Amino acid sequence: MRLLVNHSLTAEELASVYRRSGIRRPIDDLARMKRMLINANLVVSAWEKSVLVGVARCFTDYAWVCYLSDLAVDRSYQRSGIGRSLIECVRQHIGPQCQLVLLSAPETMGYYLRVGFQRANHAFIIRRTAS
Ligand SMILES: CC(C)(COP(=O)(O)OP(=O)(O)OC[C@H]1O[C@@H](n2cnc3c(N)ncnc32)[C@H](O)[C@@H]1OP(=O)(O)O)[C@@H](O)C(=O)NCCC(=O)NCCS
Repeated sequence: MRLLVNHSLTAEELASVYRRSGIRRPIDDLARMKRMLINANLVVSAWEKSVLVGVARCFTDYAWVCYLSDLAVDRSYQRSGIGRSLIECVRQHIGPQCQLVLLSAPETMGYYLRVGFQRANHAFIIRRTAS
């Protein structure tokens, strides 16, 4: 498995790996997926040969904070350490002065605790009003 940082991806490739992972994102709206891709400033992709098998999509100032918006691994490759490696790569890239934050899907709460995140009780959110 190979990790690439900010490697050029298409909206179709991103939608495809998200579909194969099961993550809930607007995968059928390619124009929106494209905006999600081009406006993220740290995207780590995981490759098995030429197959895109995982993605960590983030926004960071490289100084204070990094928001990990999407972590997705193709179902056929899950539980083989790719998610953990993607997170580790993000952490190395942003450095020790950046705090890494995310919103978990209900079914991945246990996962994030397992890979080193602490649960935060002081987080706040204004939810999107359109899906
Ligand atoms: C969540 C996800 C990214 C994990 O990726 P992964 O490559 O399968 O995870 P890893 O193989 O790195 O797992 C690391 C550890 O967590 C464990 N783990 C994996 N999935 C888990 C889960 N859902 N709950 C609890 N632990 C989990 C693994 O067994 C492994 O344990 P270890 O410490 O004994 O080795 C992947 O399952 C996925 O893409 N899920 C669908 C999309 C999603 O819901 N993403 C999160 C919302 S933003």
